[in-house]
Amino acid sequence: MKFPILLALVGIIFRLAVAAPSENCTFDGITPSNTLTWCPCGNGFFCAKLDVPLDYQNPTHGRASVPLVKYPAKSNSSDGPYQGQILLNPGGPGASGISEALDDGTLIQAVLGTNWDIVGFDTRGEWLSQPLADCSSNVSLGLNTTLRARSVPRVSDEFYTSVIDYTKGLGEQCKKIIGGPTGIGPYMSTAINARDMLSITNAFAETEDGQRAAKPRHLLNYYGISYGTFLGQTFASMFPESVGNFVLDGVVNPESNLAGGFTSAILHLDGVIASWFIYCNKAGPTSCSYYTGSTPKDIYKRFKRSFVQLDPRKAEAKHWSNATDLETALLLLKDGLLTYADAPLSYYSVLPRVLENLEVAISSQNLSSWIQQTETIFGDPGIAGYVTTNPQWALGTLCSDQNNFWYNKTLQDLRAPIEELEQRSIIGEIWSHQYLGCTGWSIKASEIYQGPFAGNTTTPILFVDNTYDPVTAIEK
Ligand SMILES: *[C@@H]1O[C@H](CO)[C@@H](O)[C@H](O)[C@H]1NC(C)=O
Ligand SMILES: *[C@@H]1O[C@H](CO)[C@@H](O)[C@H](O)[C@H]1NC(C)=O
Ligand SMILES: *[C@@H]1O[C@H](CO)[C@@H](O)[C@H](O)[C@H]1NC(C)=O
Ligand SMILES: *[C@@H]1O[C@H](CO)[C@@H](O)[C@H](O)[C@H]1NC(C)=O
Ligand SMILES: *[C@@H]1O[C@H](CO)[C@@H](O)[C@H](O)[C@H]1NC(C)=O
Ligand SMILES: *[C@@H]1O[C@H](CO)[C@@H](O)[C@H](O)[C@H]1NC(C)=O
Ligand SMILES: *[C@@H]1O[C@H](CO)[C@@H](O)[C@H](O)[C@H]1NC(C)=O
Ligand SMILES: *[C@@H]1O[C@H](CO)[C@@H](O)[C@H](O)[C@H]1NC(C)=O
Repeated sequence: MKFPILLALVGIIFRLAVAAPSENCTFDGITPSNTLTWCPCGNGFFCAKLDVPLDYQNPTHGRASVPLVKYPAKSNSSDGPYQGQILLNPGGPGASGISEALDDGTLIQAVLGTNWDIVGFDTRGEWLSQPLADCSSNVSLGLNTTLRARSVPRVSDEFYTSVIDYTKGLGEQCKKIIGGPTGIGPYMSTAINARDMLSITNAFAETEDGQRAAKPRHLLNYYGISYGTFLGQTFASMFPESVGNFVLDGVVNPESNLAGGFTSAILHLDGVIASWFIYCNKAGPTSCSYYTGSTPKDIYKRFKRSFVQLDPRKAEAKHWSNATDLETALLLLKDGLLTYADAPLSYYSVLPRVLENLEVAISSQNLSSWIQQTETIFGDPGIAGYVTTNPQWALGTLCSDQNNFWYNKTLQDLRAPIEELEQRSIIGEIWSHQYLGCTGWSIKASEIYQGPFAGNTTTPILFVDNTYDPVTAIEK
């Protein structure tokens, strides 16, 4: 009876041999493994899912899986022998490391050396990781679901209250669906993501790639941006003996992040916005159609003439019928400026047209088509836009890291920090969602690393920062 079995095995081996090189795996089809087992998933990338405990402190709570994608080192790199892997985190919290590797992995490798594997992963509860924090569908947005129906953006109590109400509904639903001891909610904190990175490093050390890497295989190499620098500083403080080559870029102050502070982060936001007027002036009238006068200030004055027209408080006080449109337009313009500040190379050239069209809209006293056009560029900055991004992914990490500091706070409690934001930047109140979002989040993290953010790391860390960074300005 051995013969048929052998035949069957040969058949399987034959099919695998034929199928393996041409077929791409997908994340749906990968069974989580406690070893790093890569399969080709298209365009030269490899995918894997690492099996980890949901709760490192209590294995009976079940399992989680970390999805990973790798852009592998070139086998004959002109940069030298194979070094090992570099993990990425693009920030957020809530941004996908898988997407970062797929979108920018080849570029990052070209910069860092083609003898490195570039590896992205999704942090707890998000995107492709399992279990997923899936608890925002179905939460009532209140009656005013769209930006257009919303009240005064800068100081209106209705605006802040509507966000707080939404957040309360979301927090309550998430508590119910993912907040229990076997749900993902308590395990989305940065300390737990740091433990996952250690698990990935240990799993890598066991692989053939780990064995042949030139760099010590039990050390993590890491490139973290923005929130990724908080994750990196947490890892380095928890596991200093496991720190390999780290670059932390756009550095978050870990103590103020934990304390729920944010204002210092936008210290130079207006400086970054001001750069647009300077560059428009430098570019001149042929390259910047919004150019006017002879100095950047002349261009700013032109902008300001439009800006001051968008005064929804005045409109409301005077019972103008265009009050709602003015609110919408103001918030959209601020959102556009923030988008420019975050991604100037992509949005520099969009602004002249946006601002010219705004002038036309104001002089014809009809903002409706400008609003429509501009929303197609910058998206809906209102609650409806916020909801489409799975807000619970960022909140699950941010609010629980802060030990639920903002939970149950009222608008009255929040006035001082919101005022601080308003004073710091002409678009400062846009960042109030950072506070407002956590007012409803009651799920406690099973583990928080609260410092000290220090340690005798095996390898020194390279911190990179920029004074004129719109969201992680270096503090002087
Ligand atoms: C694998 O994915 C790549 C990129 O998406 C695609 O070009 C290729 O046709 C795929 N191969 C198979 C067998 O599906
Ligand atoms: C690697 O380099 C060797 C010697 O230069 C060459 O024979 C081989 O084809 C190269 N392999 C690849 C995959 O480029
Ligand atoms: C969503 O809402 C529907 C109807 O209001 C309700 O039946 C359902 O249980 C809700 N789903 C969740 C996950 O709360
Ligand atoms: C919705 O928005 C309108 C217009 O701004 C406002 O008059 C109304 O009170 C809002 N309704 C709720 C429930 O907030
Ligand atoms: C808004 O309405 C007021 C009063 O009708 C008008 O003076 C103002 O020009 C309008 N603003 C815009 C941008 O349409
Ligand atoms: C404003 O313009 C839109 C489209 O351009 C038009 O549908 C609408 O009627 C106009 N509104 C007013 C008050 O003129
Ligand atoms: C939240 O605030 C309400 C009203 O102040 C209070 O009754 C409730 O006990 C608070 N809940 C928690 C968990 O602190
Ligand atoms: C690092 O090492 C130095 C000298 O060995 C020691 O004095 C210091 O306390 C250590 N720091 C930490 C955070 O462990």
